[in-house]
Amino acid sequence: MTLLASVVLGSVFALASAVLPANYVTLTAEEKQALQWNQVLATRYNLSELPSTFPQPTDNLTLLGMPEYLAQIFIHTGDEMPAGRSRMLISPFAVVCKMEYRTFKNSTTRYTGLFHTGGIGLIRISLDAIYGPPLGSLFSPTAVLKIYIPGKISRNLHHIKDLVGQGNNHNFFLTREQHHTIQSLPGDALSRPVNPYTLGLFEQASVNGDGTNVSGVIVAPWEHRLQPHAGLATPSDSTNDFRLDLIGVLKAGTVVYDVHARQSENSTVKELIGEIVLQSECVPSKYGDEGVFFRQSAQQWRAPHHNRF
Ligand SMILES: *[C@@H]1O[C@H](CO)[C@@H](O)[C@H](O)[C@H]1NC(C)=O
Ligand SMILES: *[C@@H]1O[C@H](CO)[C@@H](O)[C@H](O)[C@H]1NC(C)=O
Ligand SMILES: *[C@@H]1O[C@H](CO)[C@@H](O)[C@H](O)[C@H]1NC(C)=O
Ligand SMILES: *[C@@H]1O[C@H](CO)[C@@H](O)[C@H](O)[C@H]1NC(C)=O
Ligand SMILES: *[C@@H]1O[C@H](CO)[C@@H](O)[C@H](O)[C@H]1NC(C)=O
Repeated sequence: MTLLASVVLGSVFALASAVLPANYVTLTAEEKQALQWNQVLATRYNLSELPSTFPQPTDNLTLLGMPEYLAQIFIHTGDEMPAGRSRMLISPFAVVCKMEYRTFKNSTTRYTGLFHTGGIGLIRISLDAIYGPPLGSLFSPTAVLKIYIPGKISRNLHHIKDLVGQGNNHNFFLTREQHHTIQSLPGDALSRPVNPYTLGLFEQASVNGDGTNVSGVIVAPWEHRLQPHAGLATPSDSTNDFRLDLIGVLKAGTVVYDVHARQSENSTVKELIGEIVLQSECVPSKYGDEGVFFRQSAQQWRAPHHNRF
């Protein structure tokens, strides 16, 4: 899985009302994780009645052509959907689990920030589309990670499964408007993604899991790749809803992904830098499908860069 992502992945849905407290951003990582996890548990779906109709209520698709609508995915910094938005076409259904991003400290590449300290958060695991093949034939679903930062906005990591040989069904969304969206973002060139599929990892490399800024040189990987941990598989002949298969294999304590990173665009060296360990069961829920928001990072990747904060 690569960090390449489409801007519509995190699209949104209107919950009745926001449930997070006004002082949410000032809380500890553990407090934020507990608040959102409690919402997941409170809105969990009955497993015999998992929603699967598609399309589910979505935003008017013409909105996809509007840069000011699309730009929210980079600008809205909260962990809940902005009011008045619906999650849409891609990845509408998922399971959410508590997770720890556990980094190995033996990296020779000296990545900084969250790639060094790790952190805690949520992982949302879905298929790219509800009509995807049964999971057994593709244990490479879409995964988005949210890492909570005490006193600061969360940092998210978007991953899409490798689509080699399967056709790229994201091209539908790679529209002129998305490029306009990116160009419309505030700030200088480095404050905007290179393109809708290439999200920089600079923001995640700039802050430590304890909420302090990285001081000195910020070293961000060019690519962050999740590889299913050895031995993890769902039945290849399954005709189950993918969520039931995931729930069957993903338990508290499961190492779900190994994290590999490449340091620069043309580097061929992939280094194992950490792992994603589940801290809970995985739960399909209304809040996980419609309430949690995963902002995409806007800051572009740059070569090891001195921190002037
Ligand atoms: C789940 O749905 C089944 C079938 O409709 C029903 O028997 C059961 O009571 C429901 N369970 C919960 C927890 O709602
Ligand atoms: C969708 O949104 C566009 C732009 O706001 C509007 O012109 C159109 O009528 C809407 N369509 C529906 C079905 O709501
Ligand atoms: C780094 O540590 C991890 C976890 O202990 C281990 O699996 C990996 O092989 C180590 N890598 C190197 C290069 O020593
Ligand atoms: C940490 O970095 C951010 C920019 O990402 C900056 O706005 C903030 O002032 C910095 N905080 C400290 C304590 O230096
Ligand atoms: C990486 O390779 C591409 C294609 O050869 C080249 O255009 C690009 O400049 C290279 N990037 C760097 C940072 O060297």
